[in-house]
Amino acid sequence: MSDSSTARAEIGVTGLAVMGSNLARNFASKGFVTAIHNRSYAKTEALIKDHGGDGDFIASESAADFVASLAVPRKVIIMVKAGGPTDAVINELSELLEPGDILVDGGNAQFEDTRRREEALREKGIHFVGSGISGGEEGALLGPSIMPGGSAESYASLGPILEKISAHVDGVPCCTHIGTDGAGHFVKMIHNGIEYADMQLIAEAYDLLRSGAGLNPAEIAEVFSEWNKGELESFLVEITAEVLKQVDAETGKPLVDVILDAAGQKGTGTWTVQTALNLGVPVSGIAEAVFARGLSSAAAQRAAAQKVNLPGPSSPWEVQDKDAFIESVRLALYASKIVAYAQGFDVIAAGAKEYGWDIDNGALARIWRGGCIIRAVFLNRITEAFEETPDLGSLLFAPYFTEVVSRAQDSWRSVVAGAAKSGIPVPGFASSLAYYDGLRSERLPAAVIQGQRDFFGAHTYKRIDKEGTFHTLWSGDRTEVDA
Ligand code: 6PG
Repeated sequence: MSDSSTARAEIGVTGLAVMGSNLARNFASKGFVTAIHNRSYAKTEALIKDHGGDGDFIASESAADFVASLAVPRKVIIMVKAGGPTDAVINELSELLEPGDILVDGGNAQFEDTRRREEALREKGIHFVGSGISGGEEGALLGPSIMPGGSAESYASLGPILEKISAHVDGVPCCTHIGTDGAGHFVKMIHNGIEYADMQLIAEAYDLLRSGAGLNPAEIAEVFSEWNKGELESFLVEITAEVLKQVDAETGKPLVDVILDAAGQKGTGTWTVQTALNLGVPVSGIAEAVFARGLSSAAAQRAAAQKVNLPGPSSPWEVQDKDAFIESVRLALYASKIVAYAQGFDVIAAGAKEYGWDIDNGALARIWRGGCIIRAVFLNRITEAFEETPDLGSLLFAPYFTEVVSRAQDSWRSVVAGAAKSGIPVPGFASSLAYYDGLRSERLPAAVIQGQRDFFGAHTYKRIDKEGTFHTLWSGDRTEVDA
């Protein structure tokens, strides 16, 4: 039980690895009395020693003292590893908290876990908030994008605190209540899926500029810096230029040439694709990004392929007009990126329907404008598009984006075709274009698939000209019967 004279912390953070301690410092520096706790007290002490001057911290060695230092209703943010460690902390704290208190999981949890935890804690009267927090270490310290789920009641007291420490764009906080139970972690997962796609597309653009136009990393860095001044302005384009500029001190080579070309992952991109598959939503751009990381990391198979010497095209890409080529790649990147966002928002719409969340896509795009990894200038356009037409159907249907793809499509097609001809793998660009063409096709070859399914398995089909379900007697006289 708290003693009201000592229980004065407005927010508590448990789990003081880099993200947790930076978040705690952010709260304290914004004027909140911040309770801090970590499994081993050494980290808590280190935070006080190194950054105690950031604000008013209350450090506790035990979980009980930590909870006792918090003002009611208590608000605790858990910043520990997703999975088992999160469950362990929740179990310990939930024994110490009281009905009305708010427990926030700020890690990258699986939204289904969040739904389970929220339900269990709701029975005890504790508000469990699964919150996406994006922006990496620096974001946590200076202002992340925050995506809290959980009850509206919990947001009423927690929201203003989170909004204050979040990034701000045009004075608007990059934090909003996303929806009940697992909605916050769901949209964070999609954020990361889009992040994977965006990173893959930028990497493909780099590959095209290098293998197609023969530019070196420093020159490509210049191109990205230039792109970052226009409609592609974004955190990921900006940092790519920095990465490509970097020279390895040991070898004098561009750093990118000495980094092993095997992309790792913690799994949120894979979760996005798994979830989308379960919901039946095509996220081909995001899936290709996950698969490309998988292929890059298949070291033994790639080494074996080098030995087999699988044949490629005989001649390289002969780019005549470098400037025109660079502009084509830029447009192809922009169009493919729009497809990745469109697919991501489609999964959010399907998830909202499936789980009963009232997600405001416009507000979501607004809180992704700053603080997070996928922050980009064009999120303003996405916000506008959803504000104008909340049930847009697809981001590609918004006039602004339709105009971009119509402006980009010739370049998009020539880049993908040229890459295929010259053997440069562009799975993100190519699948996004294929998705776009599939979406706009009046008729798809799915009719053939339905015929095949009916042929070998009597799976039936529908007709375009009348109601009902039909089957052709394929092994009989091939007449059509009602099914
Ligand atoms: C963020 C990031 C972050 C993510 C890393 C690494 O929004 O701050 O999405 O949450 O964990 O980007 O992700 P991978 O290791 O899976 O690439």
